[in-house]
Amino acid sequence: MFWCAFVVFFLALGNELHLSHATEVSVNNTENKLCLYANLMVNFTVTYEVGVNKSETVLFVLPENVTTEGSICNNTTSTLKLGFGDGHSWAVEFTKDNKTYQVDSIVFTYNLNDSSVFTNSTSNETKSVTAKPRITNVGVDTYYSCKSENVQRVESVTQTLYDVTLQAFVTNGSKSDTDTVCTADLTSTTVAPTTTVTTTAAPTSTPTPTLPTPTTGNYSIAPDFNSTACLMATFGLRIGFKQGDKVETINLVPSATEVGGACGVNSSILILTSDTIDIMFTFSNDSKKFHLHALNVTVKPATGVAVVAANTNMSIWVAAVGSSYMCNKEQTLTVTETLTLYTFKLRVQPFGVEKGEFATAVECFMDSDLSFLVPIAVGVALCFLIVLVLISYLIGRRKSRTGYQSV
Ligand SMILES: *[C@@H]1O[C@H](CO)[C@@H](O)[C@H](O)[C@H]1NC(C)=O
Ligand SMILES: *[C@@H]1O[C@H](CO)[C@@H](O)[C@H](O)[C@H]1NC(C)=O
Ligand SMILES: *[C@@H]1O[C@H](CO)[C@@H](O)[C@H](O)[C@H]1NC(C)=O
Ligand SMILES: *[C@@H]1O[C@H](CO)[C@@H](O)[C@H](O)[C@H]1NC(C)=O
Ligand SMILES: *[C@@H]1O[C@H](CO)[C@@H](O)[C@H](O)[C@H]1NC(C)=O
Ligand SMILES: *[C@@H]1O[C@H](CO)[C@@H](O)[C@H](O)[C@H]1NC(C)=O
Ligand SMILES: *[C@@H]1O[C@H](CO)[C@@H](O)[C@H](O)[C@H]1NC(C)=O
Ligand SMILES: *[C@@H]1O[C@H](CO)[C@@H](O)[C@H](O)[C@H]1NC(C)=O
Repeated sequence: MFWCAFVVFFLALGNELHLSHATEVSVNNTENKLCLYANLMVNFTVTYEVGVNKSETVLFVLPENVTTEGSICNNTTSTLKLGFGDGHSWAVEFTKDNKTYQVDSIVFTYNLNDSSVFTNSTSNETKSVTAKPRITNVGVDTYYSCKSENVQRVESVTQTLYDVTLQAFVTNGSKSDTDTVCTADLTSTTVAPTTTVTTTAAPTSTPTPTLPTPTTGNYSIAPDFNSTACLMATFGLRIGFKQGDKVETINLVPSATEVGGACGVNSSILILTSDTIDIMFTFSNDSKKFHLHALNVTVKPATGVAVVAANTNMSIWVAAVGSSYMCNKEQTLTVTETLTLYTFKLRVQPFGVEKGEFATAVECFMDSDLSFLVPIAVGVALCFLIVLVLISYLIGRRKSRTGYQSV
């Protein structure tokens, strides 16, 4: 029985390996104990110049045979560096806090001088791109598991990660048996998640058919791959759209979303693309202030017809250029009669981002509504304290007076 399962497993694995090669690596620490483990597949698409105004695109996969030289395991930071081919490398940076760890960045370095890959390249430079995949909140002593594709597009490089098993900060020198499954796998209907996942995921959600709050995504655009972000946005997004008379809702899944766009002087664009949602945000800079000027949304539901909605005359998310706009509360934006956007935990800065950080935020009315209650609460508490102090002072005085009188 066990053997049978084993054989089937290996046949299936072998079959898969023929189609595309999984890369499996283990890295040991200075005490020669396992500290990093990876089994994953990565496809690269690189566009490079082959002449004046002429470029070519090449697709290649992370090979089975890689080196792990340059990988480092520390207490709270680790690097998995995979070297391959003629001077190419793929390095994953991890950081850890008390309970979780995450991938901070993936640095892909490619050598345009390698003519076996980059035929006729006019450049012989070695270039690097830094991707920020959303691999976060992985429980310490669990491995990250994601069968779904995670597409990272930075400049002229697209990396597709899939069938990923990844563990950093391995404890006791052996890979964990427990996994942290990515959201894309949990929400995907095509990939059957493990039974434990389906049973825990379904009944815990509310009995009403409402969707869970969408996952907050972090999106940023950089002018080129050496620079820090020029546009930053973070929010959870839900879209309500009409199918006939019925209103349906759908959440944007950040881990399955590609980010694109551009920063300009007078206008900046953020484009998010997923299997089910394409959305373009156009922000305008009117010298002192910015606002969301246009939205173009396409929803492609699994069943039913696609819904396209555009509004090029919006004037929301207003804040001074050089600051950011924030709205933690759920916000409703009516794009057209057939399509409505709901944003959660929103923060955007489409212009003048410095050092890859949000500038001070202008908060939406709904947020400030609550925040004006905070000083009142503090004031009430302070008054209460003062009254308490006064009372105890008076009591103290009376006591000491009676004390004097008794003498
Ligand atoms: C990755 O590339 C291989 C080889 O070209 C291809 O067979 C496979 O379908 C690609 N996978 C993805 C997820 O793009
Ligand atoms: C290259 O493209 C630019 C912009 O599209 C154009 O102005 C220029 O003439 C092109 N050069 C050649 C050699 O085609
Ligand atoms: C790279 O190309 C430049 C000119 O394009 C050339 O001068 C240089 O020798 C080349 N370097 C290498 C290592 O091939
Ligand atoms: C990127 O930055 C490195 C180091 O700061 C520098 O050597 C390189 O020239 C830069 N590349 C581009 C394309 O700006
Ligand atoms: C916004 O526009 C003004 C002029 O319209 C320009 O001076 C300023 O640099 C722009 N801000 C950014 C961040 O591009
Ligand atoms: C931005 O807008 C200002 C004022 O409308 C205009 O003078 C300037 O040329 C614009 N800049 C760009 C890059 O479009
Ligand atoms: C919205 O996007 C669709 C598809 O990309 C395009 O056909 C349409 O022209 C756009 N509408 C506006 C108003 O930009
Ligand atoms: C755009 O909105 C403004 C104010 O909301 C309105 O006055 C104007 O007519 C609208 N323009 C178009 C083309 O809808």
